[in-house]
Amino acid sequence: MSAHEQRLQKILAQAGFGSRRVCEQLILQGRVRVNGQVVTQLGVKADPHADLIEVDGKRVQLPQRHTYILLHKPAGVVTTRRDAHAARTVMDCVQGVQANLFPVGRLDADTTGVLLLTDDGELAYRLTHPRYGVPKTYLAEVRGEVGEDALRRLREGVLLEDGITAPAQVERVRYLADRRTTLLRLTLHEGRKRQVKRMCQAVGHPVVRLHRERFGPLTLRRLPVGLWRYLTPEEVVLLRRSVGLPP
Ligand code: URA
Repeated sequence: MSAHEQRLQKILAQAGFGSRRVCEQLILQGRVRVNGQVVTQLGVKADPHADLIEVDGKRVQLPQRHTYILLHKPAGVVTTRRDAHAARTVMDCVQGVQANLFPVGRLDADTTGVLLLTDDGELAYRLTHPRYGVPKTYLAEVRGEVGEDALRRLREGVLLEDGITAPAQVERVRYLADRRTTLLRLTLHEGRKRQVKRMCQAVGHPVVRLHRERFGPLTLRRLPVGLWRYLTPEEVVLLRRSVGLPP
């Protein structure tokens, strides 16, 4: 017997054919076939992943269930699935979740904020693909007083060793520490390695602290640092829709 075997009426209910009672009726009426054989008894089990199950001649398929987790990444944690040097990783922050999760994109070890973890490969692929230009918003505390000229350069494009950056939204939020630092809010539509730090460095204002407050439609919503939560169904729909996937 396969580990995935379940009673037929349970499989049909999960696949959206109605309540288990309704699905029992489908079986009793002889409308259900498993591997070509009509089943009219209620105790029969099947494996929805291995057996061909049909209702009225149409193939039954279970909806794919994925897990979507938003972590408020703390500083000092590496964005990787495994770390050979035994540093603390984002996976240590979501221990106990029963899914084959991986982080979507990357935040530097000292960066805090929104990090999505999922087992939905197609979604992750699109969210990180430049073609979809998913916006990411950062708060960056940078050294020095950032003037209009530096703001304009950050907005229009900065020449880095891997090319000119795409246009970005950049605003000065306020000066901090007696104007020794400036808080900037930057929204980027590309995701190059250490991009915010390299951009700010290139205009003469190295980053002191970096926090991601938004990833596509996702924000922390008061989630304390170091903790995680499941996305709401509405967030999952928004996220998938933002990269052209059905709900
Ligand atoms: N840009 C950076 O420089 N670092 C991050 O962690 C994210 C974006």
